[in-house]
Amino acid sequence: MRIIRSRTELATLVAQWRNAGQTIGVVPTMGSLHNGHLALVNALDGQATRRIVTLFVNPIQFNNADDFALYPRGLEADATLLDNTGKVDVLYAPDAAEMYPQGFATRIMVAGLDGMLCGADRPGHFDGVATVVTKLLLQTGADVAAFGEKDYQQLCLIRRLVQDLDLPVRITPVPTVREADGLALSSRNRRLTPQQRQQATYLPEALKTCMADIQHGKPVSACLHACRENLKTHGFDVHYLDLRTGDTLRETPVPVAGARLFVAASLGDIRLIDNMAVA
Ligand code: PAF
Repeated sequence: MRIIRSRTELATLVAQWRNAGQTIGVVPTMGSLHNGHLALVNALDGQATRRIVTLFVNPIQFNNADDFALYPRGLEADATLLDNTGKVDVLYAPDAAEMYPQGFATRIMVAGLDGMLCGADRPGHFDGVATVVTKLLLQTGADVAAFGEKDYQQLCLIRRLVQDLDLPVRITPVPTVREADGLALSSRNRRLTPQQRQQATYLPEALKTCMADIQHGKPVSACLHACRENLKTHGFDVHYLDLRTGDTLRETPVPVAGARLFVAASLGDIRLIDNMAVA
């Protein structure tokens, strides 16, 4: 596996691949890799002849300087993990100056999908995501790119921008990978204290209970209220807990086809998100 840090070096390699008739699969990441990321790499099996994983902790998608500073980083461990899969040709890890050279002034905004859920919680976050993902898809010349359903709102937004900007790339969604106790894998989990890690188990448990109650026909608002209270009792600060449609992410008072439960809740200063399909 080759580690590439510059856009021009990447462009030269991508052009060589294209001339040789290769197809390119990409997994965009911010590093601190875990099995969830490896599932994204595996999802490209049979979909592309060359694979690139990008690693860039994107400053413009953090609306909180501490969150950016504390985001776990470790290029060497990430490179070893990817190399060991035997499936990755290139780890593309540009620095901020390479990604956003002096004078960089453009933002991509996906209207309508960015104002609720994590967008309301983290103003500007999705403009940062949309901007960097567009750049990464163009820089890598991706034919196919894999994104996890754990960041479901991000997935919806990226599908929309790919369609709206006519980007010639196929988006492959990948189901959330969970720990044995149900906690969705996330780089942020590493920052949980042992006690918080135990508490964190209640997040998927509470969602599952809420989902079952809704499926059994209990009123959605009562189920959401009970779930919020349950999470608060277990020490969570709940940012949002909503039932929404699975495509446009509109709030829905009933479990329409494709509806999902979405939650963001913090333990101390660590913000966890999750979502599950209800119908
Ligand atoms: O999901 C992530 O890790 C990031 O939001 C992404 C898609 C790599 C953009 O920085």
